[in-house]
Amino acid sequence: MPAKVVVIGSLNMDLVTRAPRLPRGGETLIGESFATVSGGKGANQAVAAARLGAQVSMVGCVGNDAYGVELRDALLAEQIDCQAVSTVEGSSGVALIVVDDNSQNAIVIVAGANGALTSKVIDHFDSVLQAADVIICQLEVPDASVGHALKRGRALGKTVILNPAPASRPLPADWYASIDYLIPNESEAAALSGLPVDSLETAKTAATRLMAMGAGKVIITLGAQGSLFANGKSFDHFPVPKVKAVDTTAAGDTFVGGFAAALAAGKSEAEAIRFGQVAAALSVTRAGAQPSIPTLSDVQAFKTP
Ligand code: RIB
Repeated sequence: MPAKVVVIGSLNMDLVTRAPRLPRGGETLIGESFATVSGGKGANQAVAAARLGAQVSMVGCVGNDAYGVELRDALLAEQIDCQAVSTVEGSSGVALIVVDDNSQNAIVIVAGANGALTSKVIDHFDSVLQAADVIICQLEVPDASVGHALKRGRALGKTVILNPAPASRPLPADWYASIDYLIPNESEAAALSGLPVDSLETAKTAATRLMAMGAGKVIITLGAQGSLFANGKSFDHFPVPKVKAVDTTAAGDTFVGGFAAALAAGKSEAEAIRFGQVAAALSVTRAGAQPSIPTLSDVQAFKTP
């Protein structure tokens, strides 16, 4: 039986334009292309975990619009269990994304139906959480629901992962004791810890602070610098394979989903981090969120350039 990963979080339709550069305030740019692509941090992490070997259930909400149907169908096409994806009145979540010629992006999200994922809805699907080996949360659904899901995951004795994205402020202090693996990027680690994070050394200091706040273990993703793993006894730096980036959208989600799938399958933390990093590296060589996420055989076939 493949290990079971449950993702509690967002589904967004990504409205993606490519432009030579990101627009400045008040500026209109001529874009090069436009596409609608299934995304949302929660759904992306679910797709990553499923393509990378896990059995996955999604807990989330879509609107009763055409995007909602498309977002659910995209997960069903990956054999993701959607019994806990509720359809609610109103618009699905959307993300307005601009990707520039340097593969950098700027994103504005509008929560839409993601805002309807309440603690009560999560409780309604408690049997889905009970069946999990690993539970993953992010921050594109209401904070109260995230806190509730983390605590329920801890009470059920599951391995609980929080990818605190997007984050621009500290997390509620009483969340930390429920988190086994906290996986922020540099800016999220800075927002959560209140410390600057711009190097491996500053990442170590922030990770130490986050563990002092109660997080079990911390993995800070550092973009092209790889990632830092802190377990309270030592620090390990994992350099990332070098690839030609086309679009970094969902790279973090691919890492989180891949790490969770590998961990749930019984891999060591170091193996799971390396696996997630290769998956994320492959994802940046392709455009879009869910279309860019590699399969298990893509990762197994990967050779460091
Ligand atoms: O992490 C990438 C995702 O962030 C996009 O798919 C978009 O929906 C936003 O939520």
